[in-house]
Amino acid sequence: MPATVIVGAQWGDEGKGKIVDLLAQDSDVVCRYQGGPNAGHTIIVDGETFKLRQVPSGIISGKTCVIGAGCVVDPEVLLSELDELEKRGLDPSVVVVSGNAHLIMPWHVAIDQASERRLGKLQIGTTRRGIGPAYADKAARIGIRVQDVLDPKILRQKIEVALAEKNVWLERVYEAEPFELEDVASRYEGYARRLRPYVGDTSLFVDRALREGRDVLFEGAQAVLLDLDHGTYPFVTSSSTTAANAAAGIGIGPNRIDYVIGVAKAYVTRVGAGPFPTEIQGAAQERVRELGAEYGTVTGRERRCGWLDLVALRYAVRVNGITSLALTKLDVLSAFPELPVCVRYRLRDGSETEDFPAHQSDFHSAEPVYETLPGWTEPLDDRLPEGARGYVEFVERALDVEVSLVGTGAERERVVALR
Ligand code: GDP
Ligand code: IMO
Ligand code: MG
Repeated sequence: MPATVIVGAQWGDEGKGKIVDLLAQDSDVVCRYQGGPNAGHTIIVDGETFKLRQVPSGIISGKTCVIGAGCVVDPEVLLSELDELEKRGLDPSVVVVSGNAHLIMPWHVAIDQASERRLGKLQIGTTRRGIGPAYADKAARIGIRVQDVLDPKILRQKIEVALAEKNVWLERVYEAEPFELEDVASRYEGYARRLRPYVGDTSLFVDRALREGRDVLFEGAQAVLLDLDHGTYPFVTSSSTTAANAAAGIGIGPNRIDYVIGVAKAYVTRVGAGPFPTEIQGAAQERVRELGAEYGTVTGRERRCGWLDLVALRYAVRVNGITSLALTKLDVLSAFPELPVCVRYRLRDGSETEDFPAHQSDFHSAEPVYETLPGWTEPLDDRLPEGARGYVEFVERALDVEVSLVGTGAERERVVALR
């Protein structure tokens, strides 16, 4: 598998970290191409649990870990994550960070929090890690980049210029506390000193690795329905999460990508606000949440739970060019005698469609049309019982994509390879 993208096919938390960690065993390089510490990727190996936010999942197996230009980096989070991993016996020196990635600054976090507070009931339910404000400054061409840590004078100057404006916003618009220049500058000078050894030319590095025939994984964060262009806007994140951005976010040609593995849960979850057609009504939602331990990795929030949505998943296959699927957490469904699966949406005019609605009002009012599949009671191990196999084959037939991996538990080895 020379160049393989692992992309979230729903609203995030599908188990991308687990799948990347598994495939990283046979790979050389693992790259993150977008997002930042809004991600929370859980990996469980030999009874030890790792929750990664900023660092690619390849760190667990000591593979070279690239943080690409398309990412936003909170140095405080990154450095403390690296410290923590080092304490647990892992080697942080495998990490390389693109100088073109943007830094999340303290005012980004403050503005994210203040603007969510201000939106009140209309809030997006962000992770409040400063993601949106940092990408906004990048697009406005006033961001501070990772490479600015290489020159203390430039870094200080940029902080000074940015703060002069951000403090006005914080105080006058959001009625929040301003930042002291000296505090921020000295804190970031400290981060800068520590970050310098990690900064490198990641585009050149990944291109060379591929030319040398090495196996490279591109680890998506968030997921297609949280994509800024193709997700359920405005209830999305602020980066391009889809597979195509693996190339752009790293700085290699799109023709270098060989495979795209979509990761989907056997059901669906969503954290934060926004429409969710197959959200389960009644006690079964709580049951799925408990069985699947559906609480956010970053924020601890309850994840909303729904039945598998094949209309949304078909869209994920289209938008990402998914060549195979990893269907995770099938074990969680073992407790249910019958399993509703959404095969179509019914729209406001009474028509039914298998294709994801292009316009928000159609999506907001779409009603799921379910087909009910038989459940199974046997626990899942290396062989899938008939009911579970039937469930997987139903998904393959509906989407015309093969399911190559099935997740049967949270630990690294709890996975069945079907092909
Ligand atoms: P990510 O953000 O896509 O990496 O996913 P998260 O780590 O945020 O959430 C997935 C959760 O499900 C984590 O707690 C994983 O340990 C767990 N998990 C992953 N795959 C499986 C599986 O096949 N079965 C079960 N029961 N749990 C899984
Ligand atoms: P991983 O990589 C699930 C959601 C937030 C919110 C919206 C915008 O672990 O799958 P942001 O902080 O990005 O501005 O929040 O996106 N969100 C996620 N939901 N998994 C994630 O990451 C997410 N990252 C952001 O809940 O609805
Ligand atoms: Mg997650």
